[in-house]
This record gives sequence, C-alpha cells and structure tokens, in this order.
Amino acid sequence: MEFSIKIGNPEKQRNDCLIVGVFENKKLSASAELIDVASGNAISAVIKAGDMSGDLAATLLMHQLPNVMAKRVLLVGLGKQSEFGVKQYLKAIRAAVKALPKVAKEAGFYLTELPVTGMTVQEKTAQIAEIILDATYQINALKSKKAEAIALKKVAIFVEKAQEAEAKTALAQGLAIAEGVRMAKDLGNLPGNVCTPTYLGKQAKQLSKDYGFKVEVLDKAQIEKLGMGAFLGVAQGSDEPMRLIVLQHQKGKKEQKPIALVGKGITFDTGGISLKPGSEMDEMKYDMCGAASVLGTFKAIGELDLPINAVGIIPTCDNMPSGKALKPGDIVTSMSGQTIEVLNTDAEGRLVLCDALTYAEKFEPSTVVDVATLTGACVIALGHHASAVYSSQDALAAELIAAGEAAHDRAWHMPLWDDYQPQLDSNFADMANIGGRAGGSITAACFLSRFTKKYDWAHLDIAGTAWKSGKAKGGTGRPVPLLTTFLIKRAANH
Ligand code: BES
Ligand code: MN
Ligand code: ZN
Repeated sequence: MEFSIKIGNPEKQRNDCLIVGVFENKKLSASAELIDVASGNAISAVIKAGDMSGDLAATLLMHQLPNVMAKRVLLVGLGKQSEFGVKQYLKAIRAAVKALPKVAKEAGFYLTELPVTGMTVQEKTAQIAEIILDATYQINALKSKKAEAIALKKVAIFVEKAQEAEAKTALAQGLAIAEGVRMAKDLGNLPGNVCTPTYLGKQAKQLSKDYGFKVEVLDKAQIEKLGMGAFLGVAQGSDEPMRLIVLQHQKGKKEQKPIALVGKGITFDTGGISLKPGSEMDEMKYDMCGAASVLGTFKAIGELDLPINAVGIIPTCDNMPSGKALKPGDIVTSMSGQTIEVLNTDAEGRLVLCDALTYAEKFEPSTVVDVATLTGACVIALGHHASAVYSSQDALAAELIAAGEAAHDRAWHMPLWDDYQPQLDSNFADMANIGGRAGGSITAACFLSRFTKKYDWAHLDIAGTAWKSGKAKGGTGRPVPLLTTFLIKRAANH
C-alpha cells in the first residue's frame, strides 16, 4: 500500500473514495461541508432523509455526487461534537476503513482536520496509517487458500498546507511503526513448530541484512561459555535448540551509551514439569511476543534510520517437560552468580530474562527495557488494555508511559517496592523463582530487579496486551508502537 500526504479541496480530488466526517445533529465537518455545497446539498439531503445519523462509527457510502470529482464519498459518523475526543477519532477511522468499498483501489482521508483535544496533527496522521494497516492485516502464511487480496493500493491523507512537513514526518514514523507491528504480529501468529528459536535467529539475520544491524546468534555451546545457568536450565527440557540473539543498531553518536531492549522469546511454554492445564494452551505459542516486539521495533528503527544506539537481546527456547527437564526444587546458578531455587518450572520467563539482563551489562547501556509475556497475574491486574510498567526509576516509567499514550499503546505504572522482595526468599538458594499468588506480576518484576543494578531499567509485562484470545485470536503487535515512540523521542532529545 502506498501512502501520501496531500493538500487540496475534497470536491476537486479524482479518487475512488473520499472519507469525510459528519457529527450528530446534522453538523458537518469542514470537508463534508465543502462537498455538500459543491454537490447542491447532497449530504444534507441524506442526513435529512434519515439515511445517516452521524452516530459514532455509522457509515454511508454515496456515489457520483454532482460537481464532485471523486467516484464515491464515504460518510463516517463522529457522534456528538461536544464528546469528540481521542477514542472517538480512532473509532471513526477504524469504522471508515472497515466500510471502504471492496473495489476501491484508492482512498482519500479528510479526517486530520477534526479538532481532537490532546492529539497533534502528527498523531492524527500517524494513526490513520497505523489503523489502516492494522485493520487490513491478514493471517495468510499457513493457509492453502489465501484470503482475497485487499484492493486498496493508494491512500492519501489530506492536511492543511501549513501542516504538510510535520504530517510527512509523522506518516513516515506511522508507517515504520506499522511495519514493525506487522512483523511482531506475523511472528506471534506463527505456530511453535514453525516459529522456533532457530527461526527467530534467521529473522534477526534477515533484519540485519535489510537494515545493516550487527547481529550475533549464539548457540548452546556459546551460551554455556557465558555461564547462563538459568537460561540453560529452562532450555534443557526441549529437543529444540536454544538461541541467544543479539542485534545492534549503531546510528547514534559513538560515545553515546546504547539503550538495550530485552525480549522474552519462549517459542512455546508448556509450563515444563509444572505443566499448564490443557485449555487454551495453544496460546502459549505467543510466549515469544516480547522477542517479536523487540524484532518489530528494530525493524521500525531500521526503516527510520533512527540516530540512536540500540541493542536488542533475545533469549529464546521452548519450555517443555521431559526426562531432562528442570524439576521443582532444582537449583540453578545464573550468569550473575546468584543461585535460584526453581519452585515452579512454569515461572520460566524470569529465568531466561535474568541471564539476558546480566548479559546486557556488557554493552554498558544507559537504559535497559525488557519486554515479556511474564505473568498471568498481570492479566488479572490490568486486563487486556494496558501493559504493566515496572521501573527502578520513576522518570523512566513516566517516559515509557508518555510514549505509550502518544502511540495509543497504553501502559500503567505498577509498584516495585522492596516490601514485596521477601516473598522470593528461599531456604536453599539465594532466591526462589516464585513469590506466591499475592502480587504475582509484582514479585516477577522484583525477581528481575535483582539482575539490573548496573543500569536504569524498566520491565514491561505484556501478558494481557500482546495477543487477543477468542474469535479474533491473533497477535496485536504491541508494544512496538510504545517502544518505537520511546526511541524516537530519545533520539530527538540526544
Ligand atoms: N507465559 C506465562 C505467563 C502467561 C500466562 C502469559 C497466561 C499470558 C497468559 C509465564 O511463563 C507463566 O507461566 N507464569 C506463571 C508464573 C507462576 C508460575 C508464578 C503464571 O503466570 O501462572
Ligand atoms: Mn510459564
Ligand atoms: Zn512463559
């Protein structure tokens, strides 16, 4: 799909389909008004006749209006003008995209003109591109009969002349984010027998070819040399070979310390010997979504050639039960030297991450953000709307949350108080890998915090946001928008 920023009156555009907004109570947006006047009140007439209510997300397709050069005009309802805000804006765009006629090869969006409190024209522009690519995403990789290809090939986003330059920058960023989101969705949606640690390693190598990243994919022997006893412990139950993937994007100033992104890459989580219950276990193929979001974010910053130094670190393996698997009570020695009593083999994410977090020290990062589908408890706490943010620095948490707000990929600050730390006490090792049912997402973060003393660190628990269950089952690509926006803002402030 080809996107562009355009300027000009709606009635003068040759296009398959223009999208304009109408509010409730017959109130037209500026562009709807222009078309209405040019066409001799064609829009007012359908509203008057009751064909278009203006209710939020209602749509009506109109054909060949007099004195309007576009073949079609799609009206999209915006609801009450007094209630029109961010949520309504996003919902109206999605409704318009869903209602685009299947035959339309081009579309022109006249929606950035709508005043939305708390949204800049950049955000409004980027969201149109991101929502179109999200709503037209197809899961086709493993279907022998592919879904019908989307006809839409060209999208024009109309803005005021004075906004052209900033809209163009925003569009480039929105498209890069959408590319990253697509990659993260694709990887998440692939089954565990295809998307293996080896496969993720190949994807990283492909990214490095495409964007010039430095890449290393370490195997078991190399991981043993590093002394990653916790990561090795998780991987030992599976016949599928483990990998440690390291990507480096070095486009910032030489002396600038990098930002490291660490992604949990469990390509299937059975729970190991502490086996999970059977229902919905298939969804544990998504337990590599942290890794997928790191790869997706690298794709986005590669597309943008972002002037920043970034490292991506992905510990990836399966968590399987077998005669070789870790058993409850086993004690492993992490790369940091700290020993861990594995009371539950299903708390494997923190075991692979703790060694990756220690490994991150080697890059002397200023900031490390890890991303993981870490706990079911996080889903209980926040549901499916917000990712959880934990951080040793409130300022870093605030920065990530602000990036999430701007990217419409929201996150919420959770406590990381020392009060929770004693839940991890063990009689036999330096710590246990679980802290009991109370505050399960928090104690998981507390566990990780013990491996992050050398840098500013934040942890994103994306267990509730990385994929959707039920009929619309599928990866969401979150938190690629949050992470990419965070890095774009960091690059701008350096
Ligand atoms: N990958 C899971 C977390 C998860 C579960 C994410 C369900 C999304 C939906 C993780 O490895 C896990 O199993 N965590 C355990 C930890 C517990 C044993 C302390 C959990 O949340 O049950
Ligand atoms: Mn698990
Ligand atoms: Zn897991």
